[in-house]
Amino acid sequence: MESAFELETRAVFDRYQRQQENDDHIFDRLASLIEEDYFGLPAGSFRGLDILDAGCGSNANASYAFLEKGARSVTSLELGSEWMDCASKRLGRFGARSALVAGSVLDLPFDDGSFDFVHCAGVLPHTSEPRKGFEELTRVTRPDGKLFITVMGTGNGVVYRCINHLRELYKHDLQFRHSVDNLNAASARQAIDWLLDTKDREEAEYLSKENDFFRSLFDEDFFVTIRDRFQAPTYHDFDFTEIQIRDWFAECGFANIRRISRYTRAFHNLRRFLAPMYRHYDHPLARFWFGDGCIQMIGERPRQ
Ligand SMILES: C[S@@+](CC[C@H](N)C(=O)[O-])C[C@H]1O[C@@H](n2cnc3c(N)ncnc32)[C@H](O)[C@@H]1O
Repeated sequence: MESAFELETRAVFDRYQRQQENDDHIFDRLASLIEEDYFGLPAGSFRGLDILDAGCGSNANASYAFLEKGARSVTSLELGSEWMDCASKRLGRFGARSALVAGSVLDLPFDDGSFDFVHCAGVLPHTSEPRKGFEELTRVTRPDGKLFITVMGTGNGVVYRCINHLRELYKHDLQFRHSVDNLNAASARQAIDWLLDTKDREEAEYLSKENDFFRSLFDEDFFVTIRDRFQAPTYHDFDFTEIQIRDWFAECGFANIRRISRYTRAFHNLRRFLAPMYRHYDHPLARFWFGDGCIQMIGERPRQ
């Protein structure tokens, strides 16, 4: 039985994740994040593996990608079971290779060493005990298997300092909360039209393709991300560090621990211009805006 906090977390995420499932562009962009090269593996490496996607979200986009890439079985785990109708829409066609399981990453309902590859993206900071969740993930990873997690790094960059501050405002300021809750591509279009009409009246000489380009920077995918940053309940501010996560892997006896990153393609919005900083998280510009950034780390459980 989920706690009140977990129920709220699930309800908030379920709304975005259903929207993402309904939009082929967004779903395909998310599924395209799973590629062997990113994990430092040769092409075809997921073929024949038993994979766990822990905290898979209602649309289970990563599970879908692993199945497409030939995993022998993918177990998709989320809190409760209300999400399963959504996940089944895309996973149903994989038959018995896909299993949907209700459960918590804090108490995984699997035997030790059940999976060759464990994937847990963006989940641990949304739990009451991230370290306990991490240990559970290591427990179910097979000897010789790999564990991959992502957590948002510490908020010492400008973007996350602002987000952490605005998250507090979101909790207490009804007007700000209302604005965020109603932020979407349609409501933004009105604001953008007003902005551009006003600009065009003052500076008609610049009327050209620049307005179309400006509009193109703000699509629904962008606003789903913005709402997520303010609405998603977290037990912890964005305050994890790379060293801390490396230590977690090492303390659990994992080897070949690597922080990885990728060039995130296929954004149709402003984030296209942020993608170089997601890839090169150590560049001074990336550090300035994103601090420790999104920590994506993989390690291997040695053979006993
Ligand atoms: C940021 S979303 C990521 C979803 C998915 N991994 C993805 O990358 O699209 C975080 C997810 O963690 C799930 N979650 C939160 N606490 C959890 C727990 N204790 N056990 C399993 N999942 C949990 C939430 O319901 C939510 O779907």
